[in-house]
Amino acid sequence: MNEYILGIESSCDDTSAAVLQGTRVLSNVIASQKVHEQYGGVVPELASRAHQQNIIPVIDTALKTAKIEKNQLSAIAFTRGPGLLGSLLVGTSFAKAFAQTLNIPMVEIDHMNAHILVHFATDETHTEVPDFPFLCLTVSGGHTQIVVVKDYFDMEVIGKTIDDAAGEAFDKTAKILGLPYPGGPVIDKLAKIGNPEAFTFAKPQIPDLDYSFSGLKTSILYTVRDNLKVNPNFIEENKADLCASVQKTIIDILMNKLVKASKQTGIKTVAIAGGVSANSGLHDAMLALGEKYHWKVFIPRLSYSTDNAAMVAVTGYFKFLKGEFASQDLVPYARQSLKD
Ligand code: KG4
Ligand code: ZN
Repeated sequence: MNEYILGIESSCDDTSAAVLQGTRVLSNVIASQKVHEQYGGVVPELASRAHQQNIIPVIDTALKTAKIEKNQLSAIAFTRGPGLLGSLLVGTSFAKAFAQTLNIPMVEIDHMNAHILVHFATDETHTEVPDFPFLCLTVSGGHTQIVVVKDYFDMEVIGKTIDDAAGEAFDKTAKILGLPYPGGPVIDKLAKIGNPEAFTFAKPQIPDLDYSFSGLKTSILYTVRDNLKVNPNFIEENKADLCASVQKTIIDILMNKLVKASKQTGIKTVAIAGGVSANSGLHDAMLALGEKYHWKVFIPRLSYSTDNAAMVAVTGYFKFLKGEFASQDLVPYARQSLKD
């Protein structure tokens, strides 16, 4: 348990570095990129540049906060994919160079695998980790999956979105309502003062454990468009109610299939992970369902929900123990790798 692992995450618009000793988080530094707010979404080229600017200071701060020297590191774990290729290249190239300089192994990490394994990152206040097998609803800007986690690296996707991800549903709603990117945190905040029953939106009728969010976007778009025709101030006057109603609809859709998955598999340890798992309404829904169905519920701490390097480092630690090291000639991959 004495190995120090450096984790590097640069798959999208957060540059993050973390130092763990075994599974214990000593530092988890995240530099978010504000530059994308004005564009209503991540601009890949600007993201790569910002990573290039941030990566050295972020790693430096992570080492200093952890109070360790770089030559004490045992391995470097980095996100290989999926994500934006230009962004991934910054973290991957840095990891290669740093590992070679320090003459230590590097470990390649799948971003979605890491989101799930963040539940094994511990600190003074969080020591309880889930037992295998558990279900994980992985909800981010690019993914929406129900995963049976049988072991650290043995995962089965039993449900997934056939179009938009849950995070996209939040982000696209924000765009329709004229709210900044990323939409999730803003909608979450406004939803707290709104009425979730004020508006109803179409819910998808998708078989099995799969999801769909593109119809919801259209339904929101039509509601807003029709109401704006009779009241030009419709959005302004109903912003909080719209946010609360959209959020409730997304959560209902997510929870409906998660309950089904738990019943089908008989698994009652249920976790959430990924950026959308920061949502306070989703937390409440998970806790309520936990009570109702006697689930053991795992919700990541806020800084472990959205993109972070602690999740990369803890996954790296488990791979390090298996001796699974990456070669210097590997390249990042942009698309999903967790099989579904
Ligand atoms: O995992 P993540 O940081 O990046 C990806 O891997 O995609 O997830 C980003 C997504 C965005 O769509 C963002 O709007 C959403 O997570 N998000 C939230 C909240 N915080 C971030 N969605 C709902 N409520 C939140 N509080
Ligand atoms: Zn993510």
